[in-house]
Amino acid sequence: MSDETGLYRGLTNYGDREFSRYLRRTFLHSTGRAPESLERPVIGIATSESDFNPCHRAQPELVASVVRGVTAAGGLPMRFPTVSLGEGFLNPTAMMFRNLMAMDVEEMVRAQPMDAVVLVGGCDKTVPAQLMGAFSAGRPAVQLVAGPMSTGRYHGERLGACTDCRRFWADFRGGAVGAAEIAEVERNLATTAGTCAVMGTASTMACVVEALGMALPGSATAPAVHADRLRIAEATGAAAVEIAAAGRTPDQVVTAASVRNALRVLLAIGGSTNALVHLTAMAGRLGIGVDPDELNALSETTPVLVELKPTGAHYMEDLHASGGLPAVLHELRDLLDLSAPTVTGATLGETLGGGPGWVDRAVVRTAAEPSRAKGGLVWLRGSLAPGGALIKRSAADPALFETTGRAVVFRSLADLAARVDDPDLDVEPSDVLVLQNAGPRGAGMPEAGYLPIPAKLARKGVRDMVRISDARMSGTAYGTIVLHITPEAAIGGPLALVRTGDRIRLSVSEARLDLLVDDAELARRRAELPAPDPGPATGYGRLFHEHVMGADRGCDLDFCVPQAPL
Ligand code: FES
Repeated sequence: MSDETGLYRGLTNYGDREFSRYLRRTFLHSTGRAPESLERPVIGIATSESDFNPCHRAQPELVASVVRGVTAAGGLPMRFPTVSLGEGFLNPTAMMFRNLMAMDVEEMVRAQPMDAVVLVGGCDKTVPAQLMGAFSAGRPAVQLVAGPMSTGRYHGERLGACTDCRRFWADFRGGAVGAAEIAEVERNLATTAGTCAVMGTASTMACVVEALGMALPGSATAPAVHADRLRIAEATGAAAVEIAAAGRTPDQVVTAASVRNALRVLLAIGGSTNALVHLTAMAGRLGIGVDPDELNALSETTPVLVELKPTGAHYMEDLHASGGLPAVLHELRDLLDLSAPTVTGATLGETLGGGPGWVDRAVVRTAAEPSRAKGGLVWLRGSLAPGGALIKRSAADPALFETTGRAVVFRSLADLAARVDDPDLDVEPSDVLVLQNAGPRGAGMPEAGYLPIPAKLARKGVRDMVRISDARMSGTAYGTIVLHITPEAAIGGPLALVRTGDRIRLSVSEARLDLLVDDAELARRRAELPAPDPGPATGYGRLFHEHVMGADRGCDLDFCVPQAPL
């Protein structure tokens, strides 16, 4: 075995190469492995198990299946932990730490001796973080997702995190659901291991990554507690040994064509807005740009085929039982570049083969009879968003697509929390709720774009309004919500200049978002803007604050993307 592969890859430097090799063997002998196994190809298994990440609680069994697959295929499985990001358990937001996890994965994959790596993740930010890191590390890699939760039951109704969470909470805020009932609902929303049961961000990323070619065909949708999930894990472990032998690095798999395929799939599944940020960041690590104008062109020509919540009525377990993502890809085949490579070495067209077999057409529509003729996402531009903004039209109310309304402004998340339910808040259903300073630099870009309907309006039955911000939104949420406004308010974007009473115009048909205030008044307001917040003084927070880029660049750190040659 040469120094370039297996256990002897990247030797620790003591000034004596043979001593370095000898020492590695010595310490691995302490694990009781058969001595000859140390000469096998090393397959790293990046695990992200954490008690703070309940979505990953089945990882031990999943990882054991990967180990089995690696070993059976003649590899040496080596598990290693990384940062784990449990959505909802991180302050101020998991998004801020995606790049930290990416750095952890990148450095540990590069620094430790492995010929390929299996990335085991699932909860929202973990999959993009793992792939961003692996792409930068440049080592052969394959993704394995945790799989979605199975649904729970409440009074005869199927429930799944977290679209149903939001629906019941909105009813609770509006007074239609009482305290005892919401407490019972709370215990039945998330009842198994796995990621959110709907087409939220985790499910979207699983599908996008399969479409990108970085996970095994058919691997995105199997529920976390289904035997298929363990079979997929074992197959992924075995595949990693072949991927290592082939030296198939991510830059051979992910191309402009596969990124375009992934965007098509994002649109066809009615996927999460967050996926655009993550896909932009992932592709950016390989120097591939995601053009928002191309997104709009693809959106106009990509039908929505999948009937999952939050835009449809079904859950991920239903999609799995309906042929999984291959059923969707098969319907989209005329719109995809079937010559795009995948991690297995086969092209996308070759992996699709003759078709998925039986498909439940209530869950996966045909291209001839889609649930919507056009894709779910529209990239907006205009005087309020010179760098762009995003709306998920498939989750929005068409009656609000063409709106000119009065702005009701909240200056920050704290201001929103303090005033949105104030009975004296001057707000009408026709107003546009505006949240400032919730972008990447301002607040880490939390999923706060789903602004609550003010309590006084919720109690009157108002369930949707136009809401705009530089924040993100959970993939499980719905409403007429404009997100990712760029440049963000915290760096002086026009969003920072909006004042209560201004007129704002949203036009989905024209892909526009405009602030109807004259230039002289905006210049006057700009001169009065306070100095930017200097951010944290130390640590990762400082690094993030100083180097995070806008949503249009995937919120990656500027020094983590390939630099133009000097
Ligand atoms: Fe983990 Fe939704 S909270 S996927």
